[in-house]
Amino acid sequence: MDIEDELQATIADMVQPGTGILAADESLPTIAKRFKPVGAESTEETRRAYRSLLFTTPGLGKFISGVILFEETLDQRADDGTPLAQVLAQQNIVPGIKVDKGKIPLAGAPGDEITQGLDGLAERLRVYKGQGARFAKWREVYAIGERNPTQLGIDANAEMLARYAAVCQEEGVVPIVEPEVLIDGDHSLQHCLEVNEAVLHAVFHALHRHRVVLEYMVLKPSMVLPGKLHPARATAEQVAAATVKVLRRAVPAAVPSINFLSGGLSPAEATANLNTMNALFSGLPWALSFSYGRALQEPVLQAWAGKAENRAAAQQALYRRAQLNSLARYGKYQPELENET
Ligand code: 13P
Repeated sequence: MDIEDELQATIADMVQPGTGILAADESLPTIAKRFKPVGAESTEETRRAYRSLLFTTPGLGKFISGVILFEETLDQRADDGTPLAQVLAQQNIVPGIKVDKGKIPLAGAPGDEITQGLDGLAERLRVYKGQGARFAKWREVYAIGERNPTQLGIDANAEMLARYAAVCQEEGVVPIVEPEVLIDGDHSLQHCLEVNEAVLHAVFHALHRHRVVLEYMVLKPSMVLPGKLHPARATAEQVAAATVKVLRRAVPAAVPSINFLSGGLSPAEATANLNTMNALFSGLPWALSFSYGRALQEPVLQAWAGKAENRAAAQQALYRRAQLNSLARYGKYQPELENET
């Protein structure tokens, strides 16, 4: 297959009606942070057991079309010895891989950060591809503060995302481009809208400069929300309207799918916000979907609590959360469904 056919086939498998992406690519410190409150220790074996529980959930492929993996997981196997990437492929789920190496302060822009990992990326992608990965993810992070993000931060982060995406496409790997505007702070919904618009504008300008083919990428943005410490909460309708407004202004119609991150929203909030966008806005040029980490896994971790005997209950929790988010893809979710099992 030539590269373009390969990218097209991967996008077609990732972007399907009623499906979204499960982000299960927590780094070692992050997964330890998620395990701790439920009393699970983070070891290579507990991480393997947990993630194999997730991926062997019966019927998961009805709602989940892709899973983002952490490097370690690509090397791990399910209890029956099947490589975990293959377990996903058997469920018609595309395996993907987080390829960035985390963030450091951005020199010259106090308060802004920049993600590392471009050195040797093409070679790493060839190895990951050999292990079954067909798409990749790279995250840049923007904190909103009195002076942040700076224009330098916005431009430098956009450049990184574009350089990463261009390398991925040259290797026949679909890039998920993730500019995450953090929910922390006391900023207003309007301020968040302005930051997201500036960030996305710079990202697409850079993608264009680096000749990234928009048809073969997925955008993973934040929803437009007031900061966690802002006194006024926003309704799902306000979040949906502000988010769609920014996306319409900044995201070209050639992008096939926009898969939101959950960024610290509760599972029910993340589902309700996505549902409201799909219910209120029809005829948008891109699919509006999910690529949730915490909002899909929180109830699963609670049900599992690190104990093998809770495996079935944990899988049931994942199936249910994925099903509710699938309904949100069609604008058919209702908060009352949270009370049914
Ligand atoms: P959350 O949905 O928990 O924000 O995680 C998504 C993700 O992949 C962050 O990089």
